[in-house]
Amino acid sequence: MEITLKNLTKIFQEKDKGEITAVNNLNITIPSGKLVGLLGPSGCGKSTTLYLIAGLLNPNKGRIFFGDEDVTDMPPEERGIGLVFQNYALYPHMTVRQNIMFPLENIKVEKQEALKRSQEMADLVGIGELMDRKPKQLSGGQQQRVAIARALVKKPRVLLLDEPLSNLDARLRLATREEIKRIQRETGITTLFVTHDQEEAMSISDQIVLLNFGIKQQEGEPQDVYDQPDNLFSAKFLGTPPINIFEGEIKNKKLIFNDMELTTKDSPDKNVLIGIRPEGFIIDKKSAFSLSVYMVETIGRDTTLIIKNPLDEEETFRAIVDASHRIKPGDTIKFKIKPEKLFVFDPETGELL
Ligand SMILES: Nc1ncnc2c1ncn2[C@@H]1O[C@H](COP(=O)(O)OP(=O)(O)O)[C@@H](O)[C@H]1O
Ligand SMILES: [Mg+2]
Repeated sequence: MEITLKNLTKIFQEKDKGEITAVNNLNITIPSGKLVGLLGPSGCGKSTTLYLIAGLLNPNKGRIFFGDEDVTDMPPEERGIGLVFQNYALYPHMTVRQNIMFPLENIKVEKQEALKRSQEMADLVGIGELMDRKPKQLSGGQQQRVAIARALVKKPRVLLLDEPLSNLDARLRLATREEIKRIQRETGITTLFVTHDQEEAMSISDQIVLLNFGIKQQEGEPQDVYDQPDNLFSAKFLGTPPINIFEGEIKNKKLIFNDMELTTKDSPDKNVLIGIRPEGFIIDKKSAFSLSVYMVETIGRDTTLIIKNPLDEEETFRAIVDASHRIKPGDTIKFKIKPEKLFVFDPETGELL
Protein backbone atom coordinates (compact mmCIF):
# COMPACT_ATOMS: atom_id res chain seq x y z
CA MET A 1 0.00 0.00 0.00
CA GLU A 2 1.72 3.18 -1.17
CA ILE A 3 1.33 6.15 1.15
CA THR A 4 1.50 9.70 -0.13
CA LEU A 5 1.60 12.88 1.90
CA LYS A 6 0.72 15.98 -0.12
CA ASN A 7 1.56 19.44 1.21
CA LEU A 8 0.90 18.21 4.72
CA THR A 9 0.98 20.93 7.40
CA LYS A 10 0.28 20.78 11.13
CA ILE A 11 0.26 23.89 13.27
CA PHE A 12 -0.10 23.76 17.05
CA GLN A 13 -1.39 26.74 18.99
CA GLU A 14 0.36 27.19 22.28
CA LYS A 15 -0.75 29.61 25.00
CA ASP A 16 2.48 31.60 25.52
CA LYS A 17 4.65 30.54 22.56
CA GLY A 18 2.11 31.23 19.83
CA GLU A 19 2.05 29.02 16.77
CA ILE A 20 4.36 26.07 16.21
CA THR A 21 4.51 24.68 12.69
CA ALA A 22 5.39 21.09 13.59
CA VAL A 23 5.01 19.79 10.02
CA ASN A 24 5.57 22.25 7.21
CA ASN A 25 4.23 21.53 3.73
CA LEU A 26 5.54 17.99 3.70
CA ASN A 27 5.54 15.88 0.54
CA ILE A 28 6.57 12.27 1.06
CA THR A 29 5.87 8.99 -0.73
CA ILE A 30 6.32 5.73 1.10
CA PRO A 31 6.48 3.12 -1.67
CA SER A 32 4.40 -0.01 -1.29
CA GLY A 33 6.16 -2.76 0.65
CA LYS A 34 9.14 -0.59 1.60
CA LEU A 35 10.54 0.54 4.93
CA VAL A 36 11.04 4.29 5.05
CA GLY A 37 12.99 5.83 7.91
CA LEU A 38 11.80 9.27 9.02
CA LEU A 39 14.84 10.83 10.61
CA GLY A 40 15.66 14.09 12.35
CA PRO A 41 16.52 15.71 15.68
CA SER A 42 14.16 15.81 18.63
CA GLY A 43 11.24 18.17 18.03
CA CYS A 44 11.54 18.21 14.22
CA GLY A 45 8.01 16.85 13.68
CA LYS A 46 8.54 13.10 13.25
CA SER A 47 5.89 11.94 15.73
CA THR A 48 3.44 14.56 14.52
CA THR A 49 3.84 13.22 10.96
CA LEU A 50 3.24 9.68 12.19
CA TYR A 51 0.12 10.72 14.17
CA LEU A 52 -1.23 12.50 11.10
CA ILE A 53 -0.85 9.32 9.02
CA ALA A 54 -2.49 7.33 11.81
CA GLY A 55 -5.37 9.80 12.03
CA LEU A 56 -4.71 10.62 15.69
CA LEU A 57 -4.15 14.23 14.62
CA ASN A 58 -5.80 16.21 11.82
CA PRO A 59 -3.72 18.36 9.49
CA ASN A 60 -4.32 22.10 9.00
CA LYS A 61 -3.52 21.68 5.32
CA GLY A 62 -2.70 18.93 2.86
CA ARG A 63 -3.95 15.43 2.10
CA ILE A 64 -2.97 11.85 2.96
CA PHE A 65 -3.46 9.03 0.46
CA PHE A 66 -3.29 5.27 0.96
CA GLY A 67 -2.89 4.11 -2.61
CA ASP A 68 -5.46 6.19 -4.54
CA GLU A 69 -7.73 6.54 -1.54
CA ASP A 70 -7.83 9.88 0.26
CA VAL A 71 -7.88 8.94 3.97
CA THR A 72 -7.44 12.47 5.37
CA ASP A 73 -10.93 12.59 6.87
CA MET A 74 -11.15 8.88 7.76
CA PRO A 75 -11.23 7.98 11.49
CA PRO A 76 -8.10 6.17 12.77
CA GLU A 77 -9.79 2.80 13.36
CA GLU A 78 -10.84 2.58 9.71
CA ARG A 79 -7.42 3.33 8.27
CA GLY A 80 -5.92 -0.12 8.85
CA ILE A 81 -2.86 0.99 10.78
CA GLY A 82 -0.56 -0.90 13.15
CA LEU A 83 1.14 1.36 15.67
CA VAL A 84 4.19 0.67 17.84
CA PHE A 85 5.51 3.15 20.38
CA GLN A 86 8.75 3.58 22.28
CA ASN A 87 7.24 2.48 25.60
CA TYR A 88 5.58 -0.75 24.31
CA ALA A 89 2.25 0.20 25.96
CA LEU A 90 1.36 -3.40 26.83
CA TYR A 91 -1.43 -4.21 29.29
CA PRO A 92 0.49 -5.33 32.41
CA HIS A 93 -2.28 -7.53 33.87
CA MET A 94 -2.73 -9.50 30.63
CA THR A 95 -0.61 -12.36 29.32
CA VAL A 96 1.34 -12.05 26.10
CA ARG A 97 -1.40 -14.03 24.33
CA GLN A 98 -4.15 -11.75 25.66
CA ASN A 99 -2.15 -8.66 24.69
CA ILE A 100 -1.68 -9.84 21.11
CA MET A 101 -5.33 -10.99 20.79
CA PHE A 102 -6.77 -7.79 22.22
CA PRO A 103 -7.23 -5.90 18.90
CA LEU A 104 -9.04 -8.92 17.44
CA GLU A 105 -11.49 -9.11 20.35
CA ASN A 106 -12.36 -5.49 19.67
CA ILE A 107 -13.38 -6.31 16.12
CA LYS A 108 -15.11 -9.53 17.26
CA VAL A 109 -12.99 -12.08 15.46
CA GLU A 110 -14.05 -15.59 16.46
CA LYS A 111 -12.03 -17.02 19.40
CA GLN A 112 -10.37 -19.99 17.62
CA GLU A 113 -9.37 -17.80 14.68
CA ALA A 114 -8.04 -15.12 17.05
CA LEU A 115 -5.94 -17.69 18.93
CA LYS A 116 -4.55 -19.05 15.69
CA ARG A 117 -3.63 -15.63 14.28
CA SER A 118 -2.08 -14.52 17.57
CA GLN A 119 0.11 -17.61 17.67
CA GLU A 120 1.19 -17.00 14.04
CA MET A 121 2.15 -13.42 14.83
CA ALA A 122 3.97 -14.45 18.01
CA ASP A 123 5.91 -17.06 16.02
CA LEU A 124 6.72 -14.49 13.35
CA VAL A 125 8.28 -12.10 15.86
CA GLY A 126 10.03 -14.92 17.74
CA ILE A 127 8.09 -15.00 21.03
CA GLY A 128 5.85 -17.99 20.28
CA GLU A 129 7.07 -19.78 23.43
CA LEU A 130 6.25 -16.92 25.78
CA MET A 131 2.49 -16.69 25.33
CA ASP A 132 1.55 -17.38 28.96
CA ARG A 133 3.92 -14.85 30.50
CA LYS A 134 3.04 -11.40 31.74
CA PRO A 135 4.87 -8.40 30.24
CA LYS A 136 6.99 -7.81 33.37
CA GLN A 137 8.43 -11.34 33.01
CA LEU A 138 9.92 -10.36 29.63
CA SER A 139 13.00 -8.38 28.61
CA GLY A 140 12.52 -5.01 26.94
CA GLY A 141 13.29 -6.50 23.54
CA GLN A 142 10.71 -9.26 24.05
CA GLN A 143 8.10 -6.75 25.19
CA GLN A 144 8.68 -4.71 22.06
CA ARG A 145 8.18 -7.85 19.95
CA VAL A 146 4.84 -8.41 21.68
CA ALA A 147 3.90 -4.85 20.78
CA ILE A 148 4.87 -5.50 17.14
CA ALA A 149 2.87 -8.76 17.05
CA ARG A 150 -0.12 -6.89 18.50
CA ALA A 151 0.25 -4.19 15.85
CA LEU A 152 0.37 -6.78 13.04
CA VAL A 153 -2.37 -9.15 14.17
CA LYS A 154 -5.17 -7.18 12.48
CA LYS A 155 -3.22 -7.39 9.20
CA PRO A 156 -2.91 -3.63 8.87
CA ARG A 157 -2.20 -1.89 5.57
CA VAL A 158 0.59 0.12 7.13
CA LEU A 159 2.93 -0.30 10.08
CA LEU A 160 3.99 2.86 11.92
CA LEU A 161 6.83 2.64 14.44
CA ASP A 162 7.69 5.63 16.63
CA GLU A 163 11.23 5.29 18.06
CA PRO A 164 10.55 1.61 18.87
CA LEU A 165 14.10 0.88 20.01
CA SER A 166 14.76 3.90 22.22
CA ASN A 167 13.99 2.12 25.51
CA LEU A 168 16.31 -0.82 24.80
CA ASP A 169 19.96 -1.12 25.80
CA ALA A 170 22.60 -0.97 23.07
CA ARG A 171 22.88 -4.72 22.46
CA LEU A 172 19.12 -5.34 22.36
CA ARG A 173 18.69 -2.31 20.16
CA LEU A 174 20.93 -3.85 17.51
CA ALA A 175 19.28 -7.28 17.69
CA THR A 176 15.75 -5.87 17.68
CA ARG A 177 16.38 -3.58 14.74
CA GLU A 178 17.54 -6.57 12.69
CA GLU A 179 14.37 -8.38 13.77
CA ILE A 180 12.19 -5.47 12.65
CA LYS A 181 13.90 -5.49 9.27
CA ARG A 182 13.34 -9.25 8.95
CA ILE A 183 9.67 -9.03 9.99
CA GLN A 184 9.09 -6.18 7.56
CA ARG A 185 10.67 -8.15 4.69
CA GLU A 186 8.73 -11.31 5.51
CA THR A 187 5.37 -9.57 5.75
CA GLY A 188 6.07 -7.04 2.98
CA ILE A 189 4.10 -4.47 4.95
CA THR A 190 4.59 -0.81 4.06
CA THR A 191 6.38 0.66 7.07
CA LEU A 192 7.30 4.07 8.43
CA PHE A 193 10.05 3.89 11.02
CA VAL A 194 10.61 7.06 13.06
CA THR A 195 13.94 7.63 14.78
CA HIS A 196 16.39 10.38 15.77
CA ASP A 197 19.29 7.91 15.45
CA GLN A 198 20.97 8.25 12.06
CA GLU A 199 22.84 4.97 12.28
CA GLU A 200 19.61 3.13 13.08
CA ALA A 201 17.79 4.76 10.17
CA MET A 202 20.69 4.18 7.76
CA SER A 203 20.96 0.50 8.67
CA ILE A 204 17.30 -0.45 8.52
CA SER A 205 15.70 1.73 5.83
CA ASP A 206 15.16 1.22 2.12
CA GLN A 207 14.82 5.00 1.96
CA ILE A 208 15.23 7.79 4.45
CA VAL A 209 13.51 11.14 4.75
CA LEU A 210 15.45 13.76 6.68
CA LEU A 211 13.39 16.31 8.57
CA ASN A 212 14.34 19.55 10.35
CA PHE A 213 11.90 22.13 11.78
CA GLY A 214 9.07 20.21 10.13
CA ILE A 215 10.63 20.72 6.69
CA LYS A 216 11.91 17.93 4.49
CA GLN A 217 15.66 18.38 4.02
CA GLN A 218 16.43 15.46 1.74
CA GLU A 219 15.22 11.99 0.85
CA GLY A 220 16.66 8.98 -0.90
CA GLU A 221 18.46 5.73 -0.34
CA PRO A 222 20.56 6.06 2.83
CA GLN A 223 23.92 5.72 1.09
CA ASP A 224 22.95 8.21 -1.62
CA VAL A 225 21.98 10.84 0.95
CA TYR A 226 25.27 10.22 2.76
CA ASP A 227 27.30 10.45 -0.45
CA GLN A 228 25.46 13.44 -1.92
CA PRO A 229 24.12 15.71 0.82
CA ASP A 230 22.03 18.59 -0.54
CA ASN A 231 22.84 20.88 2.35
CA LEU A 232 24.83 21.38 5.53
CA PHE A 233 22.11 19.85 7.71
CA SER A 234 22.09 16.57 5.77
CA ALA A 235 25.88 16.45 5.68
CA LYS A 236 26.13 16.97 9.45
CA PHE A 237 23.25 14.70 10.45
CA LEU A 238 24.52 11.54 8.76
CA GLY A 239 27.81 9.84 9.61
CA THR A 240 29.85 8.80 12.64
CA PRO A 241 32.23 10.31 13.37
CA PRO A 242 30.48 13.33 11.88
CA ILE A 243 31.73 15.28 8.90
CA ASN A 244 34.39 17.92 9.62
CA ILE A 245 33.14 21.45 8.91
CA PHE A 246 35.42 24.48 8.78
CA GLU A 247 35.60 27.97 7.33
CA GLY A 248 37.42 28.57 4.08
CA GLU A 249 37.15 30.62 0.93
CA ILE A 250 37.02 30.37 -2.81
CA LYS A 251 39.59 32.67 -4.42
CA ASN A 252 40.61 32.67 -8.09
CA LYS A 253 38.86 29.31 -8.64
CA LYS A 254 40.78 27.72 -5.78
CA LEU A 255 39.34 26.33 -2.56
CA ILE A 256 41.54 27.74 0.21
CA PHE A 257 41.86 26.76 3.87
CA ASN A 258 44.38 28.59 6.08
CA ASP A 259 46.31 29.79 3.00
CA MET A 260 46.57 26.22 1.69
CA GLU A 261 44.93 25.11 -1.52
CA LEU A 262 42.68 22.06 -1.10
CA THR A 263 41.44 21.77 -4.66
CA THR A 264 40.14 23.84 -7.51
CA LYS A 265 36.56 25.07 -7.43
CA ASP A 266 34.92 26.79 -10.35
CA SER A 267 32.82 29.32 -8.42
CA PRO A 268 32.97 33.08 -7.85
CA ASP A 269 35.13 34.31 -4.96
CA LYS A 270 33.37 34.02 -1.59
CA ASN A 271 33.63 32.74 1.96
CA VAL A 272 32.40 29.17 2.26
CA LEU A 273 32.04 26.29 4.67
CA ILE A 274 34.09 23.24 3.77
CA GLY A 275 32.96 19.75 4.75
CA ILE A 276 35.30 16.76 4.63
CA ARG A 277 34.20 13.30 5.74
CA PRO A 278 36.68 11.68 8.18
CA GLU A 279 37.41 8.95 5.62
CA GLY A 280 38.25 11.57 2.97
CA PHE A 281 41.81 12.26 4.16
CA ILE A 282 44.59 10.43 2.31
CA ILE A 283 48.19 10.72 3.47
CA ASP A 284 50.20 12.09 0.56
CA LYS A 285 53.74 13.46 0.97
CA LYS A 286 53.42 15.50 -2.22
CA SER A 287 50.39 17.47 -1.05
CA ALA A 288 50.56 21.15 -0.06
CA PHE A 289 47.84 20.66 2.57
CA SER A 290 49.38 19.83 5.93
CA LEU A 291 48.00 19.56 9.44
CA SER A 292 49.55 18.82 12.82
CA VAL A 293 48.21 15.78 14.66
CA TYR A 294 47.09 16.36 18.24
CA MET A 295 45.97 12.89 19.32
CA VAL A 296 45.89 9.40 17.82
CA GLU A 297 43.35 6.66 18.53
CA THR A 298 43.97 3.26 16.97
CA ILE A 299 41.18 0.71 17.09
CA GLY A 300 41.69 -2.40 14.98
CA ARG A 301 42.00 -1.56 11.30
CA ASP A 302 41.57 2.17 11.66
CA THR A 303 43.51 5.00 13.16
CA THR A 304 41.63 8.18 13.98
CA LEU A 305 43.76 11.30 13.92
CA ILE A 306 42.48 14.14 16.03
CA ILE A 307 43.66 17.43 14.63
CA LYS A 308 43.18 20.90 16.09
CA ASN A 309 41.85 23.41 13.62
CA PRO A 310 44.76 25.85 13.11
CA LEU A 311 42.18 28.65 12.70
CA ASP A 312 40.35 27.80 15.92
CA GLU A 313 42.05 25.70 18.60
CA GLU A 314 38.69 24.94 20.19
CA GLU A 315 37.70 22.95 17.12
CA THR A 316 39.03 19.54 16.15
CA PHE A 317 38.95 17.53 12.94
CA ARG A 318 38.81 13.77 12.73
CA ALA A 319 40.62 11.92 9.98
CA ILE A 320 40.39 8.14 9.68
CA VAL A 321 43.45 6.55 8.07
CA ASP A 322 44.92 3.09 7.72
CA ALA A 323 46.45 1.81 11.01
CA SER A 324 49.63 0.81 9.17
CA HIS A 325 50.76 4.46 9.05
CA ARG A 326 51.98 4.55 12.69
CA ILE A 327 51.44 8.25 13.27
CA LYS A 328 52.39 9.89 16.58
CA PRO A 329 50.90 12.97 18.26
CA GLY A 330 52.80 16.07 17.14
CA ASP A 331 53.54 14.72 13.65
CA THR A 332 52.78 17.06 10.76
CA ILE A 333 50.99 15.13 8.05
CA LYS A 334 50.36 16.10 4.44
CA PHE A 335 46.96 15.15 3.11
CA LYS A 336 45.25 14.86 -0.19
CA ILE A 337 41.45 15.00 0.01
CA LYS A 338 39.27 12.49 -1.83
CA PRO A 339 37.16 14.72 -4.09
CA GLU A 340 33.99 12.69 -3.50
CA LYS A 341 34.36 13.22 0.27
CA LEU A 342 34.66 17.00 0.05
CA PHE A 343 31.65 19.33 0.03
CA VAL A 344 31.44 23.11 -0.16
CA PHE A 345 28.49 24.93 1.36
CA ASP A 346 27.14 28.45 1.27
CA PRO A 347 27.59 29.77 4.84
CA GLU A 348 24.33 31.76 4.72
CA THR A 349 21.91 29.25 3.23
CA GLY A 350 23.72 26.01 4.02
CA GLU A 351 23.10 24.87 0.44
CA LEU A 352 25.67 22.78 -1.37
CA LEU A 353 27.71 24.86 -3.83
N1 LIG B 1 0.15 18.48 21.18
C1 LIG B 1 1.05 19.44 20.96
N2 LIG B 1 0.81 20.72 21.31
C2 LIG B 1 1.70 21.70 21.07
N3 LIG B 1 2.90 21.51 20.48
C3 LIG B 1 3.21 20.25 20.11
C4 LIG B 1 2.31 19.16 20.33
N4 LIG B 1 2.89 18.03 19.86
C5 LIG B 1 4.09 18.40 19.37
N5 LIG B 1 4.29 19.74 19.51
C6 LIG B 1 5.45 20.51 19.07
O1 LIG B 1 5.65 20.23 17.69
C7 LIG B 1 7.02 20.07 17.38
C8 LIG B 1 7.26 18.70 16.80
O2 LIG B 1 7.04 17.71 17.79
P1 LIG B 1 7.18 16.15 17.52
O3 LIG B 1 6.43 15.81 16.28
O4 LIG B 1 6.81 15.45 18.77
O5 LIG B 1 8.75 16.02 17.24
P2 LIG B 1 9.69 14.72 17.22
O6 LIG B 1 8.82 13.50 17.27
O7 LIG B 1 10.47 14.85 15.95
O8 LIG B 1 10.59 14.82 18.42
C9 LIG B 1 7.77 20.33 18.68
O9 LIG B 1 8.13 21.68 18.71
C10 LIG B 1 6.73 20.05 19.74
O10 LIG B 1 7.00 20.77 20.90
MG1 LIG C 1 8.78 11.94 18.67
